[in-house]
Amino acid sequence: MTLLELPQTGRTQSLVDRFGRRFRYVRISVTDLCNLGCTYCNPVRGCATTHSHKLSWDDLDFLVDVSVNDLGAEAVRITGGEPTIRPGLADWVRGIRRFGRLRDVAMTTNGILLRQTAATLRDAGIDRVNVSLDTFDAGRFREITRGGSLSRCLDGIEAAIAAFDRVKINCVAVRSLVLGELDRFVRFSDEKNVEVRFIELMPVFDEKDYFHANFVGVPELKTRLAALGFALEPEGDGPAAGNRTGYGPATTFRVAGTRARIGFISQMSDTKCLSCNKLRLTSDGALKPCLLMPEEIDLRPAIKARDRETVCHHMRLQFLARAERYDAQTAIAMPAGRPMQATGG
Ligand code: 5AD
Repeated sequence: MTLLELPQTGRTQSLVDRFGRRFRYVRISVTDLCNLGCTYCNPVRGCATTHSHKLSWDDLDFLVDVSVNDLGAEAVRITGGEPTIRPGLADWVRGIRRFGRLRDVAMTTNGILLRQTAATLRDAGIDRVNVSLDTFDAGRFREITRGGSLSRCLDGIEAAIAAFDRVKINCVAVRSLVLGELDRFVRFSDEKNVEVRFIELMPVFDEKDYFHANFVGVPELKTRLAALGFALEPEGDGPAAGNRTGYGPATTFRVAGTRARIGFISQMSDTKCLSCNKLRLTSDGALKPCLLMPEEIDLRPAIKARDRETVCHHMRLQFLARAERYDAQTAIAMPAGRPMQATGG
């Protein structure tokens, strides 16, 4: 059975919008604190954040309960900030695994704490992780992360590979870094047998200069990879093509003659709105139907009150009211209003 053929049973109704998009997963930021300060994630303020987390683990348990048992979600992605720095994560994961309809629990992390936490998190019930890595140069890593250690991140990736069956590497394509390291990323994917995904830089907060100076689109990345002699063979196109390794918007390729798998997330040059199947919850309890648009509503009071009906109502409404697609140019002109760190990238 593929992920696309899940049975719908019991009181759960699936939530399908007028473009045929079904609500399948909820992406939850469990904290906006981070032990790194990546420039693309929070270009202006570095590590400074406004809150940390305003929802307790019990609050988040309730949100997953409603998403899965009332609205038919089958996947949760845990994000931040950096999720591994919030104490109690493993216990919370163990708790949400009691919801039998939850098929997939994934986490996005910077990897810094994975050496200590990977096995525990796997045992608690995380199925797979995506680890961010944007450069293999220790100095540039320190610079882009505002002080982070490349070797700790690489150790974390090793620990993740040892603990989890499925590990992906997220590389935000920052022009000044990525173009000189494309072959290194392909080799890493081949050597470690992990998928590397290049993510187009998104405009965040109100820092437009950074975006314009550093954006590089997926078409250019593909041209450059071809020029380096890598032949990309299509593997699948997100959930719509039955991509079994995730629910996200990546288009993945195999690199001919190697074990390397390269994914592209082209939310700026070629939006994947038509297969978008998720809602996001920020760490302060705002529900966001789209990462790149400023719309959000405050779910926190209804979550705190354990008001199932109201939470359901707002989630339905936000999911169903989504436009057919967002316009990347609008997103550039009018970014989401929060740094990515406060949204949950
Ligand atoms: N553009 C693209 N991706 C981003 N991420 C964070 N900020 C941005 C941005 N401005 C990515 C991180 C990580 C995930 C959580 O979101 O690299 O992989």
